[in-house]
Parts: sequence; structure tokens; C-alpha cells
Amino acid sequence: MTKSSEQVDLTHSTLNSTLLSAKNISHNFDYPLFDNIDLDLHQGKSIAIIGMSGSGKSTLLNILSSLLKPKNGTITYNNENLYSLKDNKLLKIRRKDFGIIFQAHYLFRGFSADENLQIASLLSDKDVDDNLLKSLNIDHVMKQGVGELSGGQQQRLSIARILTKNPKIIFADEPTGNLDKQTASEVINTLFDYIKENSAGLILVTHEEDIAFNCDKVYKLVDQKLQELK
Ligand SMILES: Nc1ncnc2c1ncn2[C@@H]1O[C@H](COP(=O)(O)OP(=O)(O)OP(=O)(O)O)[C@@H](O)[C@H]1O
Ligand SMILES: [Mg+2]
Repeated sequence: MTKSSEQVDLTHSTLNSTLLSAKNISHNFDYPLFDNIDLDLHQGKSIAIIGMSGSGKSTLLNILSSLLKPKNGTITYNNENLYSLKDNKLLKIRRKDFGIIFQAHYLFRGFSADENLQIASLLSDKDVDDNLLKSLNIDHVMKQGVGELSGGQQQRLSIARILTKNPKIIFADEPTGNLDKQTASEVINTLFDYIKENSAGLILVTHEEDIAFNCDKVYKLVDQKLQELK
């Protein structure tokens, strides 16, 4: 009896280890975008954020991922408030621990697909994983220049580049925007597999509800609040 309750406790604490915690986040540009938002990301878990165009999803993702200091509130990572850290410490977290997949992807043009991955591999000291390239179905285009890849292949290459860093948290802004339904679901599954295998976390902004509802939690950004849908 005692033993089994200990086991339950152990499982509970392992599964619920918090990776990132946002508290009372408020932000505005010319007008208020959101107010007093809370969000917790746990190891091995995924969160989807949906909402109308212009509702502030990308802005919220920028705030969560260390790129934009909110007007109010704290983002806690490794027991420290991201925006109280010294610049070089924040930069190190952004470079090593966070994998940010932007709405518009940034690849090095004039280099081959393979060279783009080698750069990520050098920066992070991690090898390129051939299985990852196969699962994203880009292993056969690695010798081509970035300009010779289709839009969807470029998008998958930028995802491969992010995963090559072996991040603890993936922040993805519309990562399947350029992809057909089947390829989109393969890409999303690659991200899901990654977070499970690495006890990492995923925060995903998407317009596609079926993709969103495959995540553990779904929030809609509406009326300056995060409405919990799942
Ligand atoms: N740097 C900025 N300066 C001023 N206004 C901004 C800035 N970034 C975003 N905005 C404004 O904030 C609002 C929210 O933008 P955001 O990009 O977060 O929306 P979104 O929900 O991601 O939209 P979409 O679904 O179209 O990508 C928009 O009205 C946008 O014009
Ligand atoms: Mg956006």
C-alpha cells in the first residue's frame, strides 16, 4: 500500500515537471492585446494556441520564447524570470534550450540544405540525425541549394535545423502553414515524437483546429484572454 502510493507520487512529480511558467502576462502595442494571461508547460506536453488573425498569437509566442519583454508579468524558466536575466544568459538559453520556428523561416540562402544543418550542428555541438531527415522526408534533397527547395521543403528543413539543436522547448508559429494536410500531419507527428522522446515541451500556434486538438491542451486567444478549450 505504502509502496504504491510512493510510486504514484514519483510518477506524478516526474510527469508534471514544469518547463515554462507564464504568470500575469499583459501586453499592448497601440491597443491592449492581452491581459493577465497565465500558462504552464510541462515536460513531454504540447500546448496549442489558436485565435483570429491579429489577436496576438505571434506576439504571445515571442514573449514566451524570450524575444519580447511583456509590459507586465513574468516568464519563469529553470526557476528564473527570463526577463530579469543578464543579456548573455538569456542569449544562451535562447540559443541552447529554446527552438523557435518562425512564421516566416530563415534559412541561409546560397548554402545547400545540408550546409544549413551543419551550421546548426556546429553551433549546438549536436550531430545531424539522419532519421529525423527521413521522417521529415527531406533526406533526398540535402545536396540542393535552399533556393532549389520547394516552400514546404524549406519549412521542413528549418524544422530539422531547430530539432538538430536538441531544444528543451519548441515554440512553433504556424509550422505547417505551407504544407498539404498529409505532410502537415507528418511534420506535427515528428514534433510530438521529439517532445515525448526528449521530455521536451511544445507550444504551437496554428490556424488548423484538427492539428491544435492533437495537442494536450488547446487555448484560444480571444477578448485579451486565453480561453481553455481542452
Ligand atoms: N512590433 C509591433 N509593433 C506594433 N504593433 C505590432 C507589432 N507586432 C504586432 N503588432 C500588432 O499586434 C497585433 C497582433 O499581432 P500578431 O502578429 O501577434 O497577431 P497573430 O495573432 O499572430 O496574427 P496572424 O494569425 O495573422 O499571424 C496586430 O494588430 C499587429 O499589427
Ligand atoms: Mg502570427
